[in-house]
Amino acid sequence: MGKDPSIYLDNAATSLPKPPEVARAVADALATFGGVGRGVHPASLAAGMAVAEARQAASDLLGGPGAQRVSFQDNATAALNVALAGLVPAGGVAVTTTASHNSVLRPLFRARDERGAEVRIVGHGPDGSLDWDAFAQAVEGANVVALTHASNVTGQVYDARRAAEAAHAAGALVVLDAAQTAGSVPVGMAALWADVLCFTGHKGLLGPQGTGGMIVAEGVEVPPLLEGGSGVRSFDERQPRVMPEALEAGTLNAHGIAGLAAGIGYLERRGVEAVARDEARLAQRFRAGLSAIPGVRAYGEAAEAGRTAVVAFNVGEADSGQVAAELSAGWGICVRSGAHCAPLMHRALGTERQGVVRASFGPFNTAEQVDVALEAVEAVAAKLR
Ligand code: ALA
Repeated sequence: MGKDPSIYLDNAATSLPKPPEVARAVADALATFGGVGRGVHPASLAAGMAVAEARQAASDLLGGPGAQRVSFQDNATAALNVALAGLVPAGGVAVTTTASHNSVLRPLFRARDERGAEVRIVGHGPDGSLDWDAFAQAVEGANVVALTHASNVTGQVYDARRAAEAAHAAGALVVLDAAQTAGSVPVGMAALWADVLCFTGHKGLLGPQGTGGMIVAEGVEVPPLLEGGSGVRSFDERQPRVMPEALEAGTLNAHGIAGLAAGIGYLERRGVEAVARDEARLAQRFRAGLSAIPGVRAYGEAAEAGRTAVVAFNVGEADSGQVAAELSAGWGICVRSGAHCAPLMHRALGTERQGVVRASFGPFNTAEQVDVALEAVEAVAAKLR
């Protein structure tokens, strides 16, 4: 992190540092871009070209059906709101799991409260594994299954293909929340049978905050949530239904999207598989080290379809916020504590009161940093014991 002596282990919240080319791309875009799709002059065309390339890059990296099916949004939350508002019908049935983030849960509870939808929530065991029997029952008669690809609390990756097979057999569409997996582990939208894949730009994809989007499979139509300028068919009274403009009212954040494309470019060169392997080694080193510290407990042992480089733990009965503050103030270790906007997962883990301390590794962390972090946890555990 440049001259900052701190050790940043909060990449599941937002990745830091970014590859240097991300900031360069944003600065270049700020200096040169006009409005995307809003003119025929060079500045507008430059922005349009960059956004078109970014759509293609996102589709390629995430196994999507092509640039035209990628709609950029502010983040995964915005994408999930668009998808769930559009696909869960009034009086319909939506299924999700206790691993879901509030970016899935709250739009579904809104559909329940305002549109009479039924929301079925499939539970997890205390080890974080999904109850697949309950899942198979819950999808019967459902319109939409909103599945979190990986828990942002424990890093457990869920078997999205298995979920999609059951959902499709029951006639439901699958909305996959890939906020924690896009760019961090290999994600293949087509192979996972997702109908809509929602991603954020500022985590594993290494882009700026305020970027993200959704990829919509061919043959699936997500109705617009917002109405507004589209740059095309201006005399239509309503938002055009053609992708991607249907889901992009208003001028896009082309400056941020240029940075996102640079982040994706970095991943293409280094390889998501290589990044995932390197991060997994660090997480495993940390997890193994924690297991040797008296009084420290890690969460989420079951790994159904692998895991992201996230390790959740607690120190005895200490409040997770206190531990995180000690790690930061005493050692410069940056982690996230508390409930992580995932209330049902915390209920399943029994950590509603304490929260958990979450360390999450990124492409620029090192084994030396892991060892310092372990030394820090050991010291904090000894102090709080
Ligand atoms: N959802 C993000 C996290 O887990 C912000 O930290």
